[in-house]
Amino acid sequence: MPRNPTVVRTVPALRRAVDTLRAKKATVALVPTMGALHDGHVSLVRLAKRRAKRVVVSIFVNPTQFAPTEDFGSYPRTWKEDVAKLAAEGVDLIWHPEVKAMYPDGFATRIVPEGPATAGLEDRFRPHFFGGVATVVGKLFTQVRPDVAIFGEKDFQQLRVVTQMAADLDLGVKVIGSKTVRERDGLAMSSRNVYLSPEERRAAPELNRVMKQAAGRLRAGEDSATAMAAGAAEITKAGFVLDYLEVRHAATLAPIGSLKDGPMRMLVAARLGSTRLIDNIAV
Ligand code: PAF
Repeated sequence: MPRNPTVVRTVPALRRAVDTLRAKKATVALVPTMGALHDGHVSLVRLAKRRAKRVVVSIFVNPTQFAPTEDFGSYPRTWKEDVAKLAAEGVDLIWHPEVKAMYPDGFATRIVPEGPATAGLEDRFRPHFFGGVATVVGKLFTQVRPDVAIFGEKDFQQLRVVTQMAADLDLGVKVIGSKTVRERDGLAMSSRNVYLSPEERRAAPELNRVMKQAAGRLRAGEDSATAMAAGAAEITKAGFVLDYLEVRHAATLAPIGSLKDGPMRMLVAARLGSTRLIDNIAV
């Protein structure tokens, strides 16, 4: 029978619990999440366990990264199932603050990331998003003071933003990306996949299929504008409303014309009904 992880809900309790975990100089990994955990999150926890002696998972649906028109209120919350999954993985500590503990009355400071956060990808469609993510992740890093922190590659721009922020602010944490976990048909796992109707769920893997096909065309020497235009047409034909399909430099997210100019990452965001899906692959 797995032992339930300790759950803490206030910053002083978190500090005491992390100090205890650090006894005998044990290293600590943080896996930041918004809960509604799936196998993708489990793979982050498993990587965390390989990289540090102790594992802290935060579960906090962060209001500052949602626009008023977005799904903060209806974002899936599955606390009991989440705790059971984390217990089964041997997680030591769950940091589960109330909104008031993270953003007390009078809270007035935000981190405003630049560089990768202004690459013209997610930020073009969700201008509030990376400010909210950087602020909450900056707080999580200073609260937990982990040696390493694990983020999924599925949110590739987010991974680049938090990596840059941790370096720029000397936060002393090594940010590690973890490979996207996919359903058998190629759909990237996401807490928001539960929003898809059966018909949308059947169409959703098209995103990954089209990206893989476009990557093949790029590797065969096709120029990126032609490959992306063909991919965009196929995604639209499959019933999506496309926000973007682009290739960027994998490290800087700067526009890139061909594989000769450096490592490429293809990134996509598209809506199926009211659900917005994002994905990316290495080219
Ligand atoms: O990727 C997420 O789940 C969130 O953006 C994060 C990193 C936990 C910050 O709220």
